Amino acid sequence: MARQFFVGGNYKMNGTTESITSIIDTLNKAELPANVEVVIAPPAPYLALAVAQNKQKTVEVSAQNVYTKTSGAFTGEISPDQVKDLGATWTLTGHSERRTIFKESDEFIAEKTKFALERGLSVIFCIGETLEERKSGITLEVCARQLDALSKIVSDWTHVVVAYEPVWAIGTGLAATSDDAQDTHKQIRAHLAKTIGEKQASEVRILYGGSANGKNAPDFKDKADVDGFLVGGASLKPLEFIDIVKSRL
Ligand code: G3H
Repeated sequence: MARQFFVGGNYKMNGTTESITSIIDTLNKAELPANVEVVIAPPAPYLALAVAQNKQKTVEVSAQNVYTKTSGAFTGEISPDQVKDLGATWTLTGHSERRTIFKESDEFIAEKTKFALERGLSVIFCIGETLEERKSGITLEVCARQLDALSKIVSDWTHVVVAYEPVWAIGTGLAATSDDAQDTHKQIRAHLAKTIGEKQASEVRILYGGSANGKNAPDFKDKADVDGFLVGGASLKPLEFIDIVKSRL
């Protein structure tokens, strides 16, 4: 079965009521292709706003992070149940900014992912190597380690989308080349075939993230293992984001 093209927009800690309203208004007015799954991830305070304002059937709303509990004395955290209660259906986990700035471990990220899935959210599970790791030639080893933490505790990956985001490409304007991305995605899929089985590995979508934009997105069009993008900066520019959503037409 062909994997559906997927474009995620991660707004990170950016936006205001006014700017997010304006982004969603522009998305609402666009003729988006019916066969592209689009997920936007505003900061948590704007999740309800995004859900209420989104009028596109093919667009869903995602949290950027969730905790491993339903409720309780966990100041500052948000639970998958609360995300669902607001009408959002996805969450990101393991974004490199969570891994590096907030020191989240592979195991903790895997636990969050497992819990979010159990509570009924779909998950964009982010992985990727730093520049140092790439220079040391351990890109696949790092990605495999991050993936294995999850495959050890989650066997059903139906509601998981993997986002491969080389840290050196995030927010730098230096996207991986489409050939490099394809090469890594292929190796990631081959690794997953060994851990979650060939069928699931062939069905799981693997997104590329890291300075994806309206200009370079079409370069990835014919790359067999690149199933879409997780977009940061360019997702805040709705017309450019729409170009990325349409980049496979
Ligand atoms: O989640 C998105 C990624 O961190 C990519 O960000 O497109 O600004 O490089 P970027």
